[in-house]
Amino acid sequence: MKIISSIHALRAQLSGQNRIAFVPTMGNLHEGHLSLMRLARQHGDPVVASIFVNRLQFGPQEDFDTYPRSFEDDVEKLEKEGVYVLFAPHEREMYPQAQEYRIDPPHHLGDMLEGEFRPGFFKGVCTVVLKLFACVQPRVAVFGKKDYQQLMIIRQMCEQFALPVEIVPAQTVRAQDGLALSSRNSGLSEIERAQAPFLYQTLSALKDAIVAGRHDFSDLEKESMAALIAHGWQPDYLSVRRRCDLQPAHVGDASLVVVAAAKLGATRLIDNLEI
Ligand code: PAF
Repeated sequence: MKIISSIHALRAQLSGQNRIAFVPTMGNLHEGHLSLMRLARQHGDPVVASIFVNRLQFGPQEDFDTYPRSFEDDVEKLEKEGVYVLFAPHEREMYPQAQEYRIDPPHHLGDMLEGEFRPGFFKGVCTVVLKLFACVQPRVAVFGKKDYQQLMIIRQMCEQFALPVEIVPAQTVRAQDGLALSSRNSGLSEIERAQAPFLYQTLSALKDAIVAGRHDFSDLEKESMAALIAHGWQPDYLSVRRRCDLQPAHVGDASLVVVAAAKLGATRLIDNLEI
């Protein structure tokens, strides 16, 4: 695997490749990321991964400085997955001057759910993803469904800018006890780790209730939030939405997803379940 940190060298290495499958990451790779690499391999060749902790998508009070970084371990894992190029730029390479041109997703997509609790998050994500696409010039790019809203927003960005990149969604990978794999799980204490599957269990119970015929979404949301609070969580949101645009679900909507974000101690976890 070639590890490349400059945009110029990346372009030289990838020149002439027109079937690149790209997986952007912020590192601290786990089995979930590795499943994205494997899916990428089914959709293109060569596979290019990136590791870049993107300051633009962190709020001033958020965990940019303490975001888990494990570059050497990550390199070893990517080598094993047969990744051809790892693009790992320094911040001064990606943002040599202040990044003043930015992609601002529309208010109705970018400022709800995650965007409400992490103002500017999707602006930072879209800006870096567009820039990474410009550097790598992939034909396909793989994004995990765990970040459901991110996947939807990036897909719509590609459509609206007619970017020649197909966005491939990847299923969430879970631990045996149901906890969705996430880089932030490493911030959980041993006790919190044992409690963490309760988020998935709550979403599963809500899903089961809908499948069994309940359509009082707002009551179901309140009950699920109350269950989380009773178990010591601090939920930011838990909401039944339409899959296509993540707007609130109404009775009769066909494809639904329940999305949630909640803090357990100091760690903020997100998860979702398609219904
Ligand atoms: O999902 C992530 O890890 C990040 O938001 C991404 C897409 C790599 C952009 O920094």
